[in-house]
Amino acid sequence: MQQSLEKFARMDIAAIIVAAGRGERVGGEIPKQYSEIVGKPALAWSLDALREAGVRDIVVVINPAHEALCRAAIGARPGVRIATGGVTRSASVQAGLAAIESRHVLIHDAARPGLTVNIVHVLKAALDDGAEAAAPALPIADSLRRAGLDGAAGAAVTRDGLMRIQTPQAFAAASIRAAYAAAGPEAAFTDDLSVAHAHGLRATLIPGDARLMKYTYPEDRIMLEALLGGLRAPCVGTGFDAHRFGEGDHVMLCGVRIPHTKGLVGHSDADAGWHALVDAILGGLGDGDIGAHFPPSDPQWKGADSEAFLRHAANLVARAGARILHVDVTLICERPKVGPYRDQMRARTAEVLGLPLDRVSVKATTTERMGFTGREEGLAAQAVATVERPL
Ligand code: CTP
Ligand code: MG
Repeated sequence: MQQSLEKFARMDIAAIIVAAGRGERVGGEIPKQYSEIVGKPALAWSLDALREAGVRDIVVVINPAHEALCRAAIGARPGVRIATGGVTRSASVQAGLAAIESRHVLIHDAARPGLTVNIVHVLKAALDDGAEAAAPALPIADSLRRAGLDGAAGAAVTRDGLMRIQTPQAFAAASIRAAYAAAGPEAAFTDDLSVAHAHGLRATLIPGDARLMKYTYPEDRIMLEALLGGLRAPCVGTGFDAHRFGEGDHVMLCGVRIPHTKGLVGHSDADAGWHALVDAILGGLGDGDIGAHFPPSDPQWKGADSEAFLRHAANLVARAGARILHVDVTLICERPKVGPYRDQMRARTAEVLGLPLDRVSVKATTTERMGFTGREEGLAAQAVATVERPL
């Protein structure tokens, strides 16, 4: 039963994603349909939405010169096939129509990555209600006017009743095939609903979605990224820590063991540099402080290696979908002299945080023999971390 239901689903609706264009207006090294937008190729966004909406047969129509890029974008997603497109969008659509066998078909531009499951469901419902064609449409907010010669304003065009048509557009497959056959190879249509309408098909408009905007010009990218949830903000956190000197023969600073005539007193290894840094990262993340994450009352942190604290902070950043852009630590002490260990401290910090070396700074200063660090009662550290977070 399950198997036959799946077969029915497969036969009931297929999707064609036309992706055979060159993306000349957007430009760039990788054609826009394969370029990465908010973490995955533009094409992959549409594939995921279609699959999540239950479409089990998807034909991507491509320029064979881009096959490797297309296969990389498809990855391991099942149920996705590739067909060869033509010189015009219409030719590419017809190549897709020749490759499917389902009763219904969705025809979609790869250049519109903001597809949602809801749009697919509403289009399916329109076909199930008897429409032969359905497409998402949005009203026009701007005034319309013809362009005159040399920048002169031409006649006004009323926008009453005008709609912007998006994709995917949904059709009874036999009807849209017949419409294309009737249109002939020379007919110039910018979308499939126009082909359907010219053939007299019963078409329905469903509410469109701003997310479905077409990636046409380079400047569209920033809007698309915002719509797909890619807006991020740099958040700057600061941290401070101080530890008292006591018995001992070395101190730990930024993960490096430095021989000294004293040690540092603290519950853990008293690495003030990394403690300040952990607080700065947590500050950038807006997620409490080192004491909340590693309570001194908890015996498991007694004598703990501060690397565990720093790794934990880095994991919290990753879990929040954020990333550390840069960190800067300032160590404040008269002695031990930090200079000879500075490069090692940078390297250790960069290694633990998984950052390139030039994103990590470690500095040192004295307080000119003033105050508790000047009297060598202890040492202090302050840190700044810039954490880029999703908005
Ligand atoms: N398309 C296609 N076959 C063509 C031309 C276009 O499959 N011969 C596809 C594009 O890949 C895109 C959609 O049709 O997904 C809409 O076309 P458009 O936005 O114009 O994309 P491009 O043609 O790639 O861009 P440009 O016109 O700037 O070169
Ligand atoms: Mg084009």
